Amino acid sequence: MIDQRRLPLREEYVTCRTYEDVAAGIREMVIRGAPAIGVAAAMGVALGVAQAAEPDLDAQFARICETLAHTRPTAVNLFWAIERMRKLYESLRGRPLGVIRARLIAEAQQIRLEDIAINKAIGRNGAALVPDGKTVLTHCNAGALATAGYGTALGVIRAAVEAGKKVDVMADETRPFLQGARLTVWELQQDRIPATLITDNMAGHFLKSGRIGCVVVGADRIAANGDVANKIGTYSVAVLAKENGVPFFVAAPISTLDLTLESGDRIPIERRPDAEVTHVFGTAVAPEGTAVENPAFDVTPNRYVTAIITERGVARAPYLESLKRMVVG
Ligand code: MRU
Repeated sequence: MIDQRRLPLREEYVTCRTYEDVAAGIREMVIRGAPAIGVAAAMGVALGVAQAAEPDLDAQFARICETLAHTRPTAVNLFWAIERMRKLYESLRGRPLGVIRARLIAEAQQIRLEDIAINKAIGRNGAALVPDGKTVLTHCNAGALATAGYGTALGVIRAAVEAGKKVDVMADETRPFLQGARLTVWELQQDRIPATLITDNMAGHFLKSGRIGCVVVGADRIAANGDVANKIGTYSVAVLAKENGVPFFVAAPISTLDLTLESGDRIPIERRPDAEVTHVFGTAVAPEGTAVENPAFDVTPNRYVTAIITERGVARAPYLESLKRMVVG
């Protein structure tokens, strides 16, 4: 895994030799972004079984899945990927261990390849929504780093650029982990897509200025009614976008939908360590003993969401129907 905690200052890689290494990589955000942690979890399951021995394979399989599931609670892609691996494992019961191992490895690789194809489809579906000659505001990093490649929100931007649109990007820095400053800007620079960095509290100013043609963000979990959990700060951007008549688009794969949840109120929100808020790159920016809140995600109510762009098409309100149709086909 490329170590996303070190970018853009250092391009370092972490090698995961056990499923516990993969779980630690997800928990400590060496790898992050909903689809990317889904792919990593699938790889972790495959790696765990590759090192497991009979007898008691079922108990070991359950422990591997459990460990990987207890890393980060909000992005549903993690649980989706583990579930897909579990279903395959169950269908292989009684087969030789070598066969089970090979099939699980192939499945994890398939999930990775599918994710890239899905992102390209999201990009194709979303490109038409991006206004030509305007700035696109994004929050956090929903790019190649957050997926197996190409990205969801950044995939829409990439596809718009590939379609010949003149697009530049404004990236919120995304405190406290700085995914926007460190990762989104870095990624866009690699692709030579013009990017301008702002601090999170500048978004309202620019949304009012007329310069922003639309907002495009990713998602960690989308409830049946179209409420969207995404990186903390997304909700404020969505409200300010609506207030200023700027379309607010969410780009996400079908695996990010959680139709078992009626609304976003039931989405579990991860709390991250206080030090992410009190310190920046190891340096304290608040007095010792400061009380801190650090929710990693917020939920944007569906009324602020202009459309949800998936690999199967663009869903609009009422989301209860449009999202269900999208899943059932
Ligand atoms: O805490 P993170 O960095 O994993 O949060 C990532 C986000 O909120 C992304 O916007 C979301 O996962 C979509 S990534 C395609």
